[in-house]
Amino acid sequence: MAAAPAVRFPVFGLVRLLGLAAAAGILFWAVHFRGGMALSTDEESKLPLFNVHPVLMLIGLVALNGEALFSSYKTVPGTKKLKKLVHLAVQFLAMFLSLIGLWAVWKFHDERKIDHLYTLHSWLGLACFIFFSLQWAAGFWTFWYPGGSRSGRAFLLPWHVFFGIFIYVLAIATSVTGLLEKSIFMQSAKMIERFSTEAMFMNSLAMLLVLLSGLVILAIVSPGPSKIDTYRGSSE
Ligand code: HEM
Repeated sequence: MAAAPAVRFPVFGLVRLLGLAAAAGILFWAVHFRGGMALSTDEESKLPLFNVHPVLMLIGLVALNGEALFSSYKTVPGTKKLKKLVHLAVQFLAMFLSLIGLWAVWKFHDERKIDHLYTLHSWLGLACFIFFSLQWAAGFWTFWYPGGSRSGRAFLLPWHVFFGIFIYVLAIATSVTGLLEKSIFMQSAKMIERFSTEAMFMNSLAMLLVLLSGLVILAIVSPGPSKIDTYRGSSE
């Protein structure tokens, strides 16, 4: 197999920058185009309740998850134990925010009497959240408390890294299908035009997510001594 390309630019910084841009983008979309967010609303459309969903899902499972994936190991100074603590705490925050995001869309469906789980997006999303939670629990149990044996940790680490990447890519795919679906729903309901600024903004945000996932994969496959340290830290 051909070797992966060596990266000669600050790929981790770029991943962080694009993750931040994606989080800012979905927040801007919800506030500027969709009129903001609310956990409970008297509006008949219940749309402010829905808007909580994409914002918290994207900030949790894409931006914070991407940050915790390796940036916490790369940029947090101090002991390996501290880096590990930051990693699991940021992932916990990501899980917590996404749980509220899921609750919001579930409540929105209930209040608007819409069926649950009938779309591909919702199936991808449920799988993504379940895998994320299982991955967090297995990581906590093995690498933090009570902590597995040395051989148990060495066995789990490559699987933990693999599933981390898999779940991240799944979160990107879920978010892209969510944006696509929402845009098409709004176009069918004549809420927005095909070439409206909002529709183009949503397409651009999805393209940004695709670019972000490419960079994350590049950061992982490209050779570099720093990466080995990055991952080794979590098994020790
Ligand atoms: C990783 C991120 C995401 C996950 C895990 C996720 C998960 C889910 C799940 C499980 C549902 C089903 C709720 C139900 O049936 O009651 C849902 C619904 C929905 N989501 Fe997301 N979502 C994510 C991101 C997004 C984003 C960024 C958007 C963009 C607007 C979005 C738009 C929607 C829409 C329109 C629905 C209602 C229609 C449907 O059930 O597919 N989602 N999401």
